[in-house]
Amino acid sequence: MVQQAERMNDIPFSSIRKVFEQVDQLKAQGRTIYPYYIGRPNFDTPAHIKEAAKQALDDGLVAYTSNYGLPELRQAISQKLLADNRLTVDPDREIIVTVGANEAVLMAMLGLLNPGDEVLIPDPMWLHYFYCAHLAGAKIVGVPLREADGFQLDPDEIERRITPRTRMIVVNSPHNPTGVVYTRDTLAKVAAIAAKHDLFVMSDEIYEKIIFDGAEHVSMATFPEIADKTLTVNGFSKSYAMTGWRLGYVVAKPEIIGVLVRVHQYTTVCATSFAQAGANAALRGPQESIAQMVGEFDRRRRAIVEAFEGLPGASLVTPTGAFYAFPNLSALGGDSEGIARRLLTETGIAVVPGAAFGEYGEGHVRISYACSLADVENGMAALAEFWRSAVPIQS
Ligand SMILES: Cc1ncc(COP(=O)(O)O)c(C=O)c1O
Repeated sequence: MVQQAERMNDIPFSSIRKVFEQVDQLKAQGRTIYPYYIGRPNFDTPAHIKEAAKQALDDGLVAYTSNYGLPELRQAISQKLLADNRLTVDPDREIIVTVGANEAVLMAMLGLLNPGDEVLIPDPMWLHYFYCAHLAGAKIVGVPLREADGFQLDPDEIERRITPRTRMIVVNSPHNPTGVVYTRDTLAKVAAIAAKHDLFVMSDEIYEKIIFDGAEHVSMATFPEIADKTLTVNGFSKSYAMTGWRLGYVVAKPEIIGVLVRVHQYTTVCATSFAQAGANAALRGPQESIAQMVGEFDRRRRAIVEAFEGLPGASLVTPTGAFYAFPNLSALGGDSEGIARRLLTETGIAVVPGAAFGEYGEGHVRISYACSLADVENGMAALAEFWRSAVPIQS
């Protein structure tokens, strides 16, 4: 067996892989599967974005770009940040275009954390934060998100976990896996705590456009007391259905960008040149595709919420963002892995067990509704039928 670096000892292959494997086996047996485990929009990238990338290739945009990214793309990002997020950002010194938001997260952790530094991450969490912090040698401190609080971050829970080694807090709203959008009030309190303890705030806003029921997306960097220490992470994967293009960006003050760009220089150098041309077209071109996509997600979300209203003993915090729902199915008994396995084998519904997102995800499963409305409706009908026989109605 190869002797791996110690830092890799606690890093497993993605836990979602298990679901993929089980799904493959069942599909091979001819079973119908409702694919609620996949976290990528089932939409195509809008045509004008593809055209711009093709044109860039034909025009010979095939060399390295600046480490910071194409100037015109950074310009477009700064205009977007002003228009959408009320952030005034210098495109020359405060933005790096990255290989997906994923790279931005890794750059932030590697660039800003020392071994033993502590990072506060709301739990359940998107595990990428956990493992990037781990690669940096940092200690991950989960901050519980509780169903009873509608999965809103509880400022007291944050405050209680702060030590002299706490360096960073991760904020992700709209949130993967709960689908919750933190309120302005919650975020203002988080900002006040971060300012008081001089923490870096890494705000992953990749789902900002996918919000429902009039929820408000608030960018952390708009709170003046933390503006200097906030890193805004965003990307093109979700808003423009561009997951495979691998394009994101990080925005922060020049001193922070100056650190992060050195991580970027010695890892990826720059994001793919012609893909950046596509992203430039995405920001500068028509935005209707986003509203269409969000409308479609909303129909699926409503179908899920309605289905759960009819399941006695199950509960669901109504998601108002991203394309995830995180119901509590503990009435089925057993742990979330067992619950997910039962759902898959008995109904064909493939979900990710809540515990895969951290300790506080136990009892829940994550439903991603990035599949078709028909898959949502048929899967929910299968769930209702299964639930009737599996969970005795309590009087
Ligand atoms: C919270 C969150 N941030 C970032 C990403 C990935 O972004 P990208 O494709 O830009 O790397 C995901 C993907 O699932 C996500 O859930």
